[in-house]
Amino acid sequence: MTSGDYPKEVILRDGTGVTLRPVEEADARALCRLFDRIPEHDRWFLGEDVRDPQVIQNWMSMEERGKGFSIASILEGRILGLATLHRTHFGSKSHIGEIEISVDPEFRERHLATWMLLELINLAMSAELEILAMYLAEDRDSALLGSLKRLGFKAEAVLRSFLKDREGNLHNMVIMVKHLDIGLSNGDGFEKSPKTLISAIPAKAGIQ
Ligand SMILES: CC(C)(COP(=O)(O)OP(=O)(O)OC[C@H]1O[C@@H](n2cnc3c(N)ncnc32)[C@H](O)[C@@H]1OP(=O)(O)O)[C@@H](O)C(=O)NCCC(=O)NCCS
Repeated sequence: MTSGDYPKEVILRDGTGVTLRPVEEADARALCRLFDRIPEHDRWFLGEDVRDPQVIQNWMSMEERGKGFSIASILEGRILGLATLHRTHFGSKSHIGEIEISVDPEFRERHLATWMLLELINLAMSAELEILAMYLAEDRDSALLGSLKRLGFKAEAVLRSFLKDREGNLHNMVIMVKHLDIGLSNGDGFEKSPKTLISAIPAKAGIQ
């Protein structure tokens, strides 16, 4: 990721302008406040305990450590969302990026997650990753599943009764996968090069 590419401005569905940029050292407190606003039942489904200060510290240095990158969305000093891409440089999964996204409940359903996802797709292609994966709870994340499919992700597997919520109820986990050399799916099986793909994404995704 080159710092020259940031900050970037995006316009949400309601016309609000939001800044996207990589997470910085100074963001620790604002990130803690973001995760204070995210309900516990949502935090439970994330891969790490985001209330642990060490987890937040790890995000600040993930790029230097070669562990991936993170994008924050910011409005007037407040962090409204965080998207992280985790990767390894070792072994059979070194071509894969694993994505997680969290958005402030007050700013949901305005395409903020979609914008951050587009940014991570772009960064993943620059980093020459070949596959992106997201692990979602089939019932809880059903709205996002449709949106991911429009961005070229496919539900490659469903692990039945795999995840447990805080009350002990079981949920199916869907593994959503995007092959970065395939492009956006329009249902006709067409393929595009990554460069064409990025310019096509906002229109294809219906982003306003
Ligand atoms: C999942 C999450 C990141 C979505 O963030 P968001 O900014 O609201 O997502 P977007 O606005 O980009 O939504 C994408 C699509 O899903 C729809 N959508 C999102 N949440 C929805 C809801 N609760 N009900 C109905 N539709 C919803 C949006 O309208 C949009 O549809 P469209 O493209 O047809 O217009 C957010 O709800 C969140 O932080 N949840 C808790 C953490 C989590 O579960 N992360 C996912 C696993 S990593």
